[in-house]
Amino acid sequence: MSLNSLFKNLAPDEFVSTWRSPSNIAFVKYWGKKGHQIPANPSLSMTLKECYTETKVTFKKADALNVDLKLDGVSSEKFATKISNYLKTLEELPWLNQVSFSIETSNTFPHGTGIASSASGLSAFALCLTDYLYKLSGEEKNNLFYIRASNLARLASGSACRSVYGGFTTWGECSLAESSDKYATPFEVHPELKHLKDSVVVVSGEEKNVSSTAGHGRMSDHPFAAARFVQAKDNFDIMARALKSGDIEEMGRVLESEALSLHAMMLTSPEAYTLLKPNTLAAIEMIWSFRRETKLPLYFTLDAGPNLHLIYPDVFENKIKTFISHELSSLSQKIIHDEKGEGPLKC
Ligand code: PMV
Repeated sequence: MSLNSLFKNLAPDEFVSTWRSPSNIAFVKYWGKKGHQIPANPSLSMTLKECYTETKVTFKKADALNVDLKLDGVSSEKFATKISNYLKTLEELPWLNQVSFSIETSNTFPHGTGIASSASGLSAFALCLTDYLYKLSGEEKNNLFYIRASNLARLASGSACRSVYGGFTTWGECSLAESSDKYATPFEVHPELKHLKDSVVVVSGEEKNVSSTAGHGRMSDHPFAAARFVQAKDNFDIMARALKSGDIEEMGRVLESEALSLHAMMLTSPEAYTLLKPNTLAAIEMIWSFRRETKLPLYFTLDAGPNLHLIYPDVFENKIKTFISHELSSLSQKIIHDEKGEGPLKC
């Protein structure tokens, strides 16, 4: 029987699902799409631990699609409209237009800190939605659950698809046979790289003036797009090898190259822009000189924004946190200490 007829005949009048889902930070960046939410190159990310979204969705049978969303207890028309528009794109689930969604969501981290709330928020929502689909179909939760959730998350926001698993994940077709354009896949790393920290140096909490959606769009007529996609594919292979073999220096070299290439794409796009701030560059110089002087494996990456994610192994935590608080706090509004996490949790 199709989900469509199950919905009409057997759907419960009300179903509630709550998930906690973390954000992630890309080590190899997704920047540019082909078609609808298909990445132009493969990406690889680390899922965070403390920075997560908790979302409760109450699904009710209704006459028409209705979305009501509260972020930290306050109604948000903007996010409700985003979810509603996303649900309308899920053409294979047409009966969603007879469901009312009441969403209560909150983040453990503030907005504008360079930690992707779209990745945590939309993966949490996709996990709740997948729960509902399983409830309707009567299927037991199986190993396809996370693949389906990841696919639904991807359709909402590309990077969100990587948050449905803990540790490291890949997304996008590449030399690894299991990696797909449609959903993320867990990626096992060398034991020495299993305990990486991520300290986020928030140099600016300002709203960005060019969104990620617009940024992806600007890759379509970018003169260096083809070269960037080749570089990203090469970097993906080098990064995957370095993570597998525990080569932290190679990992760090590619991590920083990816961050700088992402921002170079923005600076060199036909409609040029930058999301970097003077303090981003000042912090980069300090990280480079700290590394030269101490030889400690401290590396940075950047998302589409001015804030730095500092990546390092937990064994150097004390020395590196001392450097961060002595040298980088004057350049930043806030520092958020996080680390690699174990992935989403059903509440
Ligand atoms: O998922 P989106 O559409 O918000 O794009 C994310 C893009 C980057 O964060 C810059 C890179 C990435 O792979 O996460």
